[in-house]
Amino acid sequence: MITFDESTGIFHLRNDKVSYVLQLVRGKYLLHRYWGKAIREFRDSRPFQAIDRAFSPQPAAYENERTFSLDVLPREYPDYGHGDYRLPAYVMRQADGTTVTEFWYESHEIKAGKPGLAGLPAAYAKDDEAETLTIRLRDTKGSLAIELQYTIFAEEAVIARNARFLNTGELAVDLLQAASFAMDFADHEFERLNLWGGHAAERSVERVPLMRGQQEHGSRRGASSHQQSPFLALVRPGTTETAGDVYGFSLVWSGEFSFKTEVEQFGTTRVIGGINDFGFDWQLQPEEEFQTPEALLVYSPDGLNGMSQAFHHIVREHIVRGKYQHALRPILVNNWEATYFDFDEEKINKLADCAADLGLELLVLDDGWFGKRNDDNSSLGDWVVNTQKLKQGLKGVAESAHSRGLKFGLWFEPEMISADSDLYRAHPEWVLQVPDYPSSYGRHQLVLDLTRQEVQDYIVEAVGSVLRSAPIDYVKWDFNRHLTEAFSLALPDERQGETKTRFVLGLYAILERITQAFPEILFESCSGGGGRFDAGMLYYMPQTWTSDNTDAVCRLSIQSGTSMVFPPVAMGAHVSVVPNHQVGRVTSLQMRAICAMAGDFGYELDITRMTDAEKAQVREHVALYKKLRPTLQFGSFYRLLTPFAGKGNETAWQFVSQDGKQVVLMYFKTLAEPASPIRTLKLTGLDKDACYKVTQYLPAQRTSMDFGGETATSLVGQSFYGDELMYSGMAVEKIDTDFAAYLWGFEQQ
Ligand code: DGJ
Repeated sequence: MITFDESTGIFHLRNDKVSYVLQLVRGKYLLHRYWGKAIREFRDSRPFQAIDRAFSPQPAAYENERTFSLDVLPREYPDYGHGDYRLPAYVMRQADGTTVTEFWYESHEIKAGKPGLAGLPAAYAKDDEAETLTIRLRDTKGSLAIELQYTIFAEEAVIARNARFLNTGELAVDLLQAASFAMDFADHEFERLNLWGGHAAERSVERVPLMRGQQEHGSRRGASSHQQSPFLALVRPGTTETAGDVYGFSLVWSGEFSFKTEVEQFGTTRVIGGINDFGFDWQLQPEEEFQTPEALLVYSPDGLNGMSQAFHHIVREHIVRGKYQHALRPILVNNWEATYFDFDEEKINKLADCAADLGLELLVLDDGWFGKRNDDNSSLGDWVVNTQKLKQGLKGVAESAHSRGLKFGLWFEPEMISADSDLYRAHPEWVLQVPDYPSSYGRHQLVLDLTRQEVQDYIVEAVGSVLRSAPIDYVKWDFNRHLTEAFSLALPDERQGETKTRFVLGLYAILERITQAFPEILFESCSGGGGRFDAGMLYYMPQTWTSDNTDAVCRLSIQSGTSMVFPPVAMGAHVSVVPNHQVGRVTSLQMRAICAMAGDFGYELDITRMTDAEKAQVREHVALYKKLRPTLQFGSFYRLLTPFAGKGNETAWQFVSQDGKQVVLMYFKTLAEPASPIRTLKLTGLDKDACYKVTQYLPAQRTSMDFGGETATSLVGQSFYGDELMYSGMAVEKIDTDFAAYLWGFEQQ
């Protein structure tokens, strides 16, 4: 998979899907030569043209070679200071104050498999699944080194990259920027696609022209955030969901990040991505190393769906670990929107009774079970059960859920501390805080200093002892504010620029210890919904609560956007009550259910108050989900229509089972419209020669006035070949109602 040609200096990473080519020139410099569709052999049909460019300087050794300048070369991991004026991938300040360094090639190594990254989540692979190239660069003064690592996987359209900085000298240096990757493209005929949002409004697609000069999106919040996602795609203009060249980048990192693009004077494009360099200052003492997070690079010739499927596949097969990696996820009921803080054992047991009766599988007890927490003012940090609410403790509710055939799950928010808590009274120094400046609050809470070993130990012990105290099958791990006054009383002054990065490393150390200690537990991460939905968290916890917004209409865009990078099985999705608690909207139960079935399905409302008719519908939905679950959770996912295109009124999602035998199609039309066109859905990813029988059909139900008109003609029982379904498509029966949602199931004959 990886070859090196000494005569040309060409490194070629290749599998059936992609090629990635870099070149060592003049024995010193690493140039980027190609990334895209697989090429059998790179012979350099597009040699770099040496042109004398004014104001593009020459390195000292090439003073008289005016056509040679780092300023115009496509570079693998560029520095700043020797004539390349574009965005650098790294900046280091040396003891004498200079930020000039000069790294040249020293050696390389190609090995089977993929090494782990110390202290960080990263894609993993067996020796026959991947090959890794490590290139060592050395500063010409001799005391600093950088190792660039590139992994190509046998089966994935993905290249994984990271960089490691090593101080082998005698003086400390400050790392002021350390990108996970840099990428130079020969042109700028691209659009820039990223995911933006806010709390309860995560991951909408933003697609804008790539502009000359610099563009950036990122987070300065100490977490990957609701506001921007650690992801960027460059797409050729005209790219659709199913066609066009896409270059996608996703960081395996849960802290703050930045993606910068720069289109420079000669029309080339540089992309830099990694930990946000804003305020970043990592002191590298002699003998110390700094490891950047990993970046996953996907090339897709098949539009956005192609990119998403490559990301989904690598996340499912090489990021998520443990018992639930390939295990079906249970249908849950969560008490948060059902009761908020106002619950006791009796209410929870009633919920359990009803859940068992409806065929649900997991009862989750959310916030409010510990300390004296009856609102969000207190008790974070005091992970001791409140026996006023739960008379027989956690064991009581857990066992009572089990006795009804349900699993039992519990909420935690371990990274936080309330000022009104025994923990804070005992350890005020455990909070991130700047001396002499009052700390800012978010949801009345402060943030624990996870850079401290004793805080990490406390969290592992406090959470662990609760998990040992009762039969707990599932944990929801929440994080409800971002960092402020990010200063650690435990770090020396000159290392404060490391605090936000060390916070995330501390979190990872905690998550590793807890998830390894409790391998049977299903963990779901959460940050006020999807405020930390990233591949880093998925390495520890195989699913994430997608958003605090449970409104089905909002969820169409939230889940469509999230699916750009993450598979449906990573997304928690629940049916909630109407009027919806976040936006007040009244949607049909069917729309809420079908939308939630496109994720880890569950309910989050007081199911005991549903009418008999509603319960009958829930039973039908639950039974259907159980039947389709392997396809919905582990099949290939396709966006056919998203709210980001057209009028934003329609969404269609399709799933194909791993063996290709089962297909599920969902269609949502948010608002009824007069004179509406008849919608044709062209399926995708089918075997054109296979015959598919329509076996399932949930037709849209009228929630508003029935104007009569067309009668629905069900296709159930009929069979069609894949080519007809893909090329001619199927018409959706028109219905005059808002919030229409349909689901079809197909079985290959
Ligand atoms: C935010 C989460 O996203 C909610 O689902 C819920 O767990 C609350 N926190 C509880 O405080």
